Amino acid sequence: MRNFQFYNPTRLIFGKGTLEALTTEIPKYGKSVLLIYGGGSIKRSGLYDKVTALLQRIGANVTELPGVEPNPRLSTVHKGVDLCRSQGIDLVLAVGGGSVLDCAKAIAVGAKYEGDMWDFAVRKAAPQGALPLGTILTIAATGSEMNSNSVITNEATMEKIGWSSPYAYPAFSILDPELTFSLPRDQTVYGVVDMMVHVLEHYFHTDGNTPVQDGFCEALLRTMMDAGSKLVNDLENYKLRETILYCGTMALNGMVSMGFAGDWATHNIEHAVSAVYDIPHGGGLAILFPQWMKYNLDAGPERFRQLAVNVFGVDPSGKSDREVGLEGIEALRRFWDSIGAPSRLADYDIDASHIDAMADKAIRFGPFGNFRKLQREDAVEIYTMSL
Ligand code: NZQ
Ligand code: ZN
Repeated sequence: MRNFQFYNPTRLIFGKGTLEALTTEIPKYGKSVLLIYGGGSIKRSGLYDKVTALLQRIGANVTELPGVEPNPRLSTVHKGVDLCRSQGIDLVLAVGGGSVLDCAKAIAVGAKYEGDMWDFAVRKAAPQGALPLGTILTIAATGSEMNSNSVITNEATMEKIGWSSPYAYPAFSILDPELTFSLPRDQTVYGVVDMMVHVLEHYFHTDGNTPVQDGFCEALLRTMMDAGSKLVNDLENYKLRETILYCGTMALNGMVSMGFAGDWATHNIEHAVSAVYDIPHGGGLAILFPQWMKYNLDAGPERFRQLAVNVFGVDPSGKSDREVGLEGIEALRRFWDSIGAPSRLADYDIDASHIDAMADKAIRFGPFGNFRKLQREDAVEIYTMSL
């Protein structure tokens, strides 16, 4: 293991009926609330009415920022920062999926910064403060509800970049599984894929002696597959929604990844794809991750073997690590096919025409990935394998 510090200040409020907690949490931070949400799902599900009624009950002054895009855009962040300044906002409240939460994080830090929030994404500056942020999550996927990450798309430069800051942790996050009932099947699938890839990105590390962490990751993956396969055919099953919601948070809140550095190359190359084509993040990962695995199998076949045996139940007897690892990769592909995840870039009508541009974006901050360092030409190869 590496030496590590663990820090996570988010108050997680989980379970049926927990929306009411808004009335005790918000007054801790002030009266003036910026309510941020997406393209309308919270209005259709009735959640918007419930949230605004609770805000009214505690006498909050509410300013709204609707219309946050999936793959949230910098121009929307700018709108939110302007509203925070002009309305004297005390607390940012994000209601929606990872895109709404990530946008709210960018607004919360941007409101305390004189320059352009994009400076944080391009590593020109680091946040020095933030408005407090509360979230109400409506999709199990990113883990944004309990981590310090945010991914923003600069539509002018066609760049999609992740950034992170200790100031970006939500102060509180409310997770009621029933609020995810209305999530359609395709988004449910993308969420399951995304959380699985978060665990897999952790799993492919080279730091050694992480038996407890490996066990946590393997248990998460087995549970995500078991619950995910049932959930996609039973979208309003409370227990399954509850399990998947908890899995999504645990996959990327730091609890299972102490003491080592995961790989994260595939997230980097996927963000470059969705920067150019605006595809769903989980869909992109379902296509790219198995190709990353095949491409890097020889960099550490014993790790692939452990995954195949402990998660996919591959019988290793009489086989090389490589053979067992390959069977594991095939089992992962079969699982994602079985729940209806995409498998080729062609599924999104993506051909080879922008591979160079995507590879340029992937290498923006230099060679990437910790399991094996990848160069620009490796990204080109993985995109080509994924066509
Ligand atoms: O915009 P609305 O109308 O709300 O509709 C959304 C959106 O169209 C809909 N939706 C959400 N909850 C719903 C619902 N529809 C019906 N019922 C509900 N309960 O689902 C669509 C997708 O929402 P989005 O927020 O984009 O999905 P997700 O949570 O997967 O977030 C994806 C974004 O997060 C970034 C991704 O790159 C992408 O930009 N990521 C953020 C991370 C983080 N902050 O830690 C890590 C991830 O690896 C990821 O990169
Ligand atoms: Zn992800």
